[in-house]
Amino acid sequence: MKLIQVTDLHLVNPGEKHFGLDPLARLEACIADINRNHADADLVVFSGDLTDRGEAIAYEALKQRLATLVPPYRLMIGNHDDRAVFLEAFPEAADENGFIQTHLDLPHGRVLLLDTVEQGQIEGRLCDSRLAWLDERLGEAEGRPAYVFTHHPPFDIHMPTLDELKLMDHAALYDVLARHGAVRHIFSGHVHRPVGGSWRGIPISTIRGTNHQSALVFSGDYQTSTEPPAYAVIIASEDSVVVHHHDFLQGAAA
Ligand SMILES: [Fe+2]
Ligand SMILES: [Fe+2]
Repeated sequence: MKLIQVTDLHLVNPGEKHFGLDPLARLEACIADINRNHADADLVVFSGDLTDRGEAIAYEALKQRLATLVPPYRLMIGNHDDRAVFLEAFPEAADENGFIQTHLDLPHGRVLLLDTVEQGQIEGRLCDSRLAWLDERLGEAEGRPAYVFTHHPPFDIHMPTLDELKLMDHAALYDVLARHGAVRHIFSGHVHRPVGGSWRGIPISTIRGTNHQSALVFSGDYQTSTEPPAYAVIIASEDSVVVHHHDFLQGAAA
């Protein structure tokens, strides 16, 4: 089973730069690279911060570009998105409660995409309604492997300016995950950095965004960096989950 994770597009008005970079051109390069190398992927997950300011024009640009993506895809939102404006462009993405949560059953288990956005807040939240949805979807999986995607990581990465903006309801999330016990990996966005490890025994990873990155600083103010954009190629099999980080602009014009 091959999954692709793409995150933190931060799209602005087409033609506008963001941190001196062209987010839309980078998304186009990312999609072209996925089509060239991973057209066989089972799923491409865009794990939030699709736009920088939640503007309709940016979601429209995204929708147009996604029409060129060969593998199937699903979208998540992040704190920079606007759920209502997003849903105008992608109404099919809402669950029965109006959140952007999805589950898919794939050959090696169930993929669960969570909505950790509390509109107007930068940090992440999971209310009782969203946690109940997750509890039910994991229950239906009846012990089959589950792969969970969140925009906000539920764990610290020991960069204080990012840790204070993580998923605040991490303990409640863990309680639900622990009750079912078959979660093989949590994939998160939001931090614009490649990180791997584990959280309370569950393997975790984060990746760089497609536009700007966070500099690796463990104290002081938040800083961006111009490290290259990346997406992840995730290969899950009977006995392993492997996460490759691919710098898709390597050797290409930025
Ligand atoms: Fe972001
Ligand atoms: Fe974010």
